[in-house]
Amino acid sequence: ETVEWAAESYDMGGHDTYMHKEIAEQADAVDRVLRGRIDERFATVHLGGLNLDAREARRMRRVKILGCGSAYHAGMIGAQMIEELARVPADAEPASEFRYRNAVVDPDTLYIAVSQSGETYDTLAAVQELKRKGARVLGVVNVVGSAIARETDGGVYVHAGPEVCVVSTKCFTNTAVAFALLALHLGRIRDLSVADGKRIIEGLRRLPGQIDEIMRAEDDIKKLAADYAEAKSMMFVGRVRGYPVAREASLKLKEVSYIHAEAYPASELKHGPLALIEPAVPTVAILPDDELLDKNRATLEEIKARSGKILAVAHQEQEKADHTIVVPRNEVELDPVLMGIPLQLLAYHTALALGRDIDKPRNLAKSVTVE
Ligand code: G6P
Repeated sequence: ETVEWAAESYDMGGHDTYMHKEIAEQADAVDRVLRGRIDERFATVHLGGLNLDAREARRMRRVKILGCGSAYHAGMIGAQMIEELARVPADAEPASEFRYRNAVVDPDTLYIAVSQSGETYDTLAAVQELKRKGARVLGVVNVVGSAIARETDGGVYVHAGPEVCVVSTKCFTNTAVAFALLALHLGRIRDLSVADGKRIIEGLRRLPGQIDEIMRAEDDIKKLAADYAEAKSMMFVGRVRGYPVAREASLKLKEVSYIHAEAYPASELKHGPLALIEPAVPTVAILPDDELLDKNRATLEEIKARSGKILAVAHQEQEKADHTIVVPRNEVELDPVLMGIPLQLLAYHTALALGRDIDKPRNLAKSVTVE
């Protein structure tokens, strides 16, 4: 598989920063990861480089996803999608932790390494250790021909195009979509029905237009950012599908704005972090319109009772929140793909309001190729 990255994709194209350019490019990037892969007839997708036959896909008993930083968070989304659509137990773990804890390598587990650059040393070392022990390892990688792409047995290219800004935006989104494709593919080999396969395909096709719709709210998000830039710390909460979104949004805010942020499952708030809630520590709550909406609304009430300010990201206006960013509805399994995008814009505009060096945040590197 080859992708051509045109020279003009490194051009700023009228944007002041690569981060802004890369956020704005996401509808096109998602279009690219879908292109040529959908198989309407069998309500599935073709993943040319996967190198995993149907018998292996049926036989595996577990999926373990490994990555660092944003790649790890995209892997958390991927693990949930694989559990939901393919009904295989799946989880994600930081690649660095995995390689140092002498993990049990299980022959019935499919391992998946996730990386934008394909060069992150911790992730590469985890792959090499797994290969040495005879495990089956696939890659979900952006840079074609990178070290991780070469060392894995096969995988899915993310096709986000070059990502220059240190913090990941379009590659994160595209990785989540690549995982949706993989989950759909595995699901349709296992027990996902044709009807559900079609439902997910239709959802995937709606994504680019819905991303454009989110981008149209940028001016409103910019106004919110001016306000939230004064926070001394921020809390990000979500349940199940909303939780990896909260994790990634919190990382994004820290990386570019240097505002301290924490992410918790909304259900864990009462087990400790609620003690931090006060007017100077606002909460961003991710509340998709799924089976957990009522639980999430109850969490908003707990926060309000401690006079915490709330910014909700939801499918409809939230009465208990001070502000709501409304995102378009898709299939519940795909909610994490869209719900993170307004929060990339929030991180961006917060950093801009604070005068940060957006494309090159202090102390960070685009790809960490050392231990
Ligand atoms: C670095 C970057 C992160 C990135 C991580 C993984 O720490 O600062 O933004 O998510 O590496 O990079 P990778 O290229 O493996 O996705």
